[in-house]
Amino acid sequence: MDLKTGTILAALTLLAPGCKIQYKTEKINYNPSRANVREGKRLTMLVCGSCHYNFETKDFTGKKLEDSPKFLGKIYAANITQHPGQGAGQYTPGELVYLLRTGISRSGRLMPYMHRPNMAEEDLDAIIAYLKSDDHAVRPSDRNPGKTKYSPIGRLGLSFTKPGKYQDARIQKPGSDPILLGKYLVDNLACFHCHSKNFTSLDVQEPERSKGFMGGGNKLRNAAGKKIQTPNLTPHATGIANWTEGEFRRAVTAGISKDNSVISYPMPLFPELTEAETSAIFAYLKTIPPIETK
Ligand code: HEC
Ligand code: HEC
Repeated sequence: MDLKTGTILAALTLLAPGCKIQYKTEKINYNPSRANVREGKRLTMLVCGSCHYNFETKDFTGKKLEDSPKFLGKIYAANITQHPGQGAGQYTPGELVYLLRTGISRSGRLMPYMHRPNMAEEDLDAIIAYLKSDDHAVRPSDRNPGKTKYSPIGRLGLSFTKPGKYQDARIQKPGSDPILLGKYLVDNLACFHCHSKNFTSLDVQEPERSKGFMGGGNKLRNAAGKKIQTPNLTPHATGIANWTEGEFRRAVTAGISKDNSVISYPMPLFPELTEAETSAIFAYLKTIPPIETK
């Protein structure tokens, strides 16, 4: 390590503990419409499940996120069952909406993974209805998945990430146009978070403006702790230009790639997606600018 890097690192370590940024929260009154709880469960599995669903306990009690780079610290997705002492138990519908629209928790902490500024009201309402339902997977459980502890570098990274501004927008779900539906799903299922250049150059408000949108190359860790790069999903020969819709559907819902190899963690499986939804995602991906990966 040369002197310059040493000085910078030392400065970061000294400064960062002071960087525990507290954001202002707004109290909003939100009355969810009477939503379909079954659709809510499907959406909660699809949108929140990859982080919050625990396959051992078969409920939404959270877990450690192993794919995050170690230098950021230890990150645990919270227990989002209705337990009053845990993550989601105390949230009102207004606070949940605020968290998903801005990425700011009810205690003013930034949680960028949850930021979904473009989610339709209909889907928000269904997720809230499910989280407040009597389904076994959200019944109060006091299981504590562990407490997120960012390293100084992780905290510094967070201090550069901007939360969203709350807008009282009634966002409509796209109708049956497959391209618009595909775009909506790539946004709200966060495919572009992992399948673009990296996490720090994402544009959550306008996903297509993210660096290397869907071109892959984001460096994550697999279950064995090995570094892997996410694949390119743009319509280029080094992406999915030669894939069929059926191959794409099998990859996303069953985790088997075009060459029959098993697609591994941290790629989440999305078995709850309907055929219309996977073909919409596929149709949309065919319309985005192709990117070549080496
Ligand atoms: C990419 C992973 C990821 C996804 C997807 C995700 N979360 Fe989270 N969530 C986390 C992590 C990590 C934390 C804990 C953050 C911390 O402690 O700083 C968390 C915390 C929470 C909390 C607790 C906040 C608090 O005040 O302690 C709630 C509530 C929550 N998530 C709800 C949701 C809902 C609802 C969805 C789906 C619409 C969702 N999350 C999707 C990773 C995720
Ligand atoms: C948490 C990060 C993450 C998210 C979110 C994610 N993926 Fe992936 N995806 C990966 C990784 C990592 C791989 C490669 C895994 C491997 O090499 O085994 C992958 C592989 C794939 C593949 C196989 C590509 C190939 O060349 O074999 C497809 C198709 C795919 N993802 C589609 C999607 C779609 C569609 C979404 C959203 C609905 C999505 N992914 C969301 C991380 C993610």
